[in-house]
Amino acid sequence: MTDLETRPLHPLFAAEVLGVDLREPPTPGLVAQIDAAMDRYAVVVLRDQDIDDDQQLVFAKALGPLEPTPAVVDAHLHRLRHREMVDISNLEVDGSILGAEDRRRMFNLGNRLWHSDSSFKATPAKYSLLHARVIPPEGGETEFADMRAAWDALPDATKKLIEPLVCDHSLIYSRALLGFDAFTEQERREFAPVPQRLVRKHPGSGRRSIYLSSHIGTIHGWPRPEAMALIRDLTEHATRREFVYRHRWRLHDLVMWDNRCTMHRARPFEDQRFKRDLRRLTLEDSASTLEQPA
Ligand SMILES: [Fe+2]
Repeated sequence: MTDLETRPLHPLFAAEVLGVDLREPPTPGLVAQIDAAMDRYAVVVLRDQDIDDDQQLVFAKALGPLEPTPAVVDAHLHRLRHREMVDISNLEVDGSILGAEDRRRMFNLGNRLWHSDSSFKATPAKYSLLHARVIPPEGGETEFADMRAAWDALPDATKKLIEPLVCDHSLIYSRALLGFDAFTEQERREFAPVPQRLVRKHPGSGRRSIYLSSHIGTIHGWPRPEAMALIRDLTEHATRREFVYRHRWRLHDLVMWDNRCTMHRARPFEDQRFKRDLRRLTLEDSASTLEQPA
């Protein structure tokens, strides 16, 4: 198999990969080339993939083990056929638009904050694969920030300061930033904080990255306000425009990103007027960041 053609989308990271048809199950050669593109670019866009849930699932599983279940509120109200598939939509189980006051809509607004998927899980996420089935006429972009470039650009003193730090991550922390605290007792137990390193090494490229996420609520051994002030400064640094690629969705785009070395956030759209239906599968990382080589 010849090398896939790539078209960079940003000076630092993110690329379109051409010549892939996901209606066919991927060969081991294609999987190896996608992994290589992911190691280099961290965000990979495959255009014009007119696939269904099963085909998306076959592709994701070929890349590695999936996260078994999405972490969401009202998990019993699942619109999609596969439990592993995360519903990134503004839709009710019956396909109508979620009401303005719906608890799921309030919870989903947390996706507008910069984050790394599942950083609040003991074993966090490796890749996310998001596929566009219905998109609004405008808005609803996804922005990505390059955490390896952000690390490279830090002053040496800051690198030294943050390198050994461990943070606690929880969905409860990120939602609290927007004033959402309507969790049930069971959800509170399920979303209890987990520790993750603040600086990690990306195995595929050997580069360091800052493992930031709006799910962070503390740094071990630090007073909380001081910790959050530092996390805020780092997040501001890491999401400067030069580190950000903004993806404008086209129908049937499949966008994959590496959560180990990028953050992302959703941008708003008229979600009480237009439907947006994106579906995500998430690959599990190998272990907690505390158990990975630093
Ligand atoms: Fe996300």
